[in-house]
Amino acid sequence: MKNDTINAESLFSIWKKNGAWDISYLISELRSRILKKYPVPDSSENAQNPSDPDSIGKNIVYLFPSHIMKIQKALCTTMADKESLDYFSQIGNITVLDLACGPGTASFAFVDFILGLLRNAYIKRASPLQITIIFQDLEVNCLQAAEYHTNVLRNILSQYGNWLRISVGDTFRCSISETINLMNNSHIQTFDLMFLANALDPILIHGHKALELIPDCQDPIAHARPCDRPALLGNFLNNLGKYANPYYSRDLLLQENRYAPLIPICLPSQELKVIRTSMTQKTIRPDYSSETMIVPFAYCGYKYSFSNKAISNYPIPQPLACLENFANCFGENDYYESIPELLLLDAVCRRFAVG
Ligand SMILES: C[S@@+](CC[C@H](N)C(=O)[O-])C[C@H]1O[C@@H](n2cnc3c(N)ncnc32)[C@H](O)[C@@H]1O
Repeated sequence: MKNDTINAESLFSIWKKNGAWDISYLISELRSRILKKYPVPDSSENAQNPSDPDSIGKNIVYLFPSHIMKIQKALCTTMADKESLDYFSQIGNITVLDLACGPGTASFAFVDFILGLLRNAYIKRASPLQITIIFQDLEVNCLQAAEYHTNVLRNILSQYGNWLRISVGDTFRCSISETINLMNNSHIQTFDLMFLANALDPILIHGHKALELIPDCQDPIAHARPCDRPALLGNFLNNLGKYANPYYSRDLLLQENRYAPLIPICLPSQELKVIRTSMTQKTIRPDYSSETMIVPFAYCGYKYSFSNKAISNYPIPQPLACLENFANCFGENDYYESIPELLLLDAVCRRFAVG
């Protein structure tokens, strides 16, 4: 691998050309184990709004696999560059801040992604890697679910030896901007990665819900008019930057296509690029449609946090090179269907066996 671009391209093209859009053993095992905790769903209604055990169960049945795939597709181009792979090879602990975490989907997609990189020696380690997750959500049920799912995932991970360990570092029950105050009081003071996945619509459009759920809610987004909320979210993301690791940090915003126009208007910098892409999945909500469904979505990944501009000798925030270079990789025709044998791991191994 000569440079960042080749790393990202190599990983992405191996993944894509081999039709490797499928959930791994780790994720399917996680899904089947955690489903035992929830009532068997009779419809997919409310699957997209996890708040109580019933809707969380529906979310895991109907949306979890496609959310995992979407997030991993975006991770491929935002975190498969040399800087990230070197960092993940050398650092002892990665801290993830999962905002509006729901049942923890984005964090688990990341854990699975890292396991794939480890098992295929894209990440080379001399000692175990610890992933510490901070979960934040408005709903107490979501935080409890995310914690429980982490414990289940930890048990499954033990089958892979001790190279990857995960734990919950903290849970913040609050509305999104209140995260700043809770970070202030947390024993964890720095994060490496921040995810905000599939949550712009509840935060920006239905933001007032926080006022009903959180007594004395101090989040300015919840108190603001909907038209003012995107700028306030951008301001929050900017302020959050003071907790980002000054040596390495990456952020990922991901959203279904319908709300994709919200991403650029709540980004803290105009320079950032939003990538729109889609995958086709055979069945997402079988009770809703028997047709193959196209899953269009948009994401933005960025590196360094914006407040780090204040630190002297620190690189100014910039769009990821691979996001610019690889925009063309993502077309409307990316296809995901269930091909159980062809996982990322198999695809990568096959390529190296041949090459
Ligand atoms: C569609 S779910 C997405 C969950 C997860 N990030 C994912 O990708 O699957 C949206 C989540 O945003 C949370 N949420 C809504 N408004 C919020 C707010 N103001 N602050 C924090 N979380 C919020 C909801 O409780 C819900 O868990």
